[in-house]
Amino acid sequence: MPERRRAERAVKQGWRGIAANVASEKLTSHTVAMFAARLTRMSSIIAALWLVLGTFASPLPTAIAENSVSMPLYREGRGSPDGIGKFYQGREIAAVMGFEGAPWLERPSRASEERTDLLVEELHLQPGMTVADIGAGSGYLSRRMAPIVGPARVFAVDVQPQMVALLTELSQKPEFRNLVPIQGDSDDVKLPSASIDLAVLVDVYHELAYPYEVMRSLIRALKPGGRVVLVEYRGEDPAVPIKPLHKMSEAQIRREMSVLPLTWERTAERLPMQHIVVFRKSATGE
Ligand SMILES: C[S@@+](CC[C@H](N)C(=O)[O-])C[C@H]1O[C@@H](n2cnc3c(N)ncnc32)[C@H](O)[C@@H]1O
Repeated sequence: MPERRRAERAVKQGWRGIAANVASEKLTSHTVAMFAARLTRMSSIIAALWLVLGTFASPLPTAIAENSVSMPLYREGRGSPDGIGKFYQGREIAAVMGFEGAPWLERPSRASEERTDLLVEELHLQPGMTVADIGAGSGYLSRRMAPIVGPARVFAVDVQPQMVALLTELSQKPEFRNLVPIQGDSDDVKLPSASIDLAVLVDVYHELAYPYEVMRSLIRALKPGGRVVLVEYRGEDPAVPIKPLHKMSEAQIRREMSVLPLTWERTAERLPMQHIVVFRKSATGE
């Protein structure tokens, strides 16, 4: 990230400046004292920079300390037709479902095939909860959550502008005034810090091109004690009629979340085809 690179360059330049001065100046007691003062000043700057970098710019050192995420995070490889040839924790990332798939998300049979009523029940929504629907698509789930939590907001985030256009149309209807469409980036959900009680990703996580970065940005947006719910077609079950890269096993989901500052809370298996896996951010924040 540019801030990180700028800050790292500043650190390097600072040290180079000190070294050059030491080499060129006579080591009188005065210059030694000045050098010591400069060193102290530089140390404070470096400490401050690393504090800023560690908190905002670079999630990696924290993640490595928390759990073992192997570096580099991603590996490029021979991809399959439904994947992007990029691998994360042994899993090939699936290609994003294009906006042309919006009618499939809205198919009338979805409610009975996926029992979306049970899914909403499992989210334990309460009036006043601020919710984020990450990878909201055409807004199928946002529409079902908005009336329950209103007047609190449902942030409906998507990376495809065409999906955001559909969400914007939805948000202009009087009954969905609390739905807030957000254009996300492929590596950032673009939500305000510590603003969300619950974030839901329905059939989305497996196709995030930057799963680690997206989850870090999402965790920043969660309030302390907030929940993240991943809903994924069961990868363990060959009878689930979905392409393999668009399914995930519960073990893989939990493995990928284990490198993040989240605690697994429960897995609900009430849906015909999908896992509902619930994680929580610690009550004290990260
Ligand atoms: C299979 S659709 C699911 C849509 C919706 N959750 C549903 O169940 O109806 C996946 C959605 O995730 C979105 N998506 C993919 N990567 C994303 C990212 N990095 N940030 C936000 N949305 C993303 C896609 O644009 C697509 O709309």
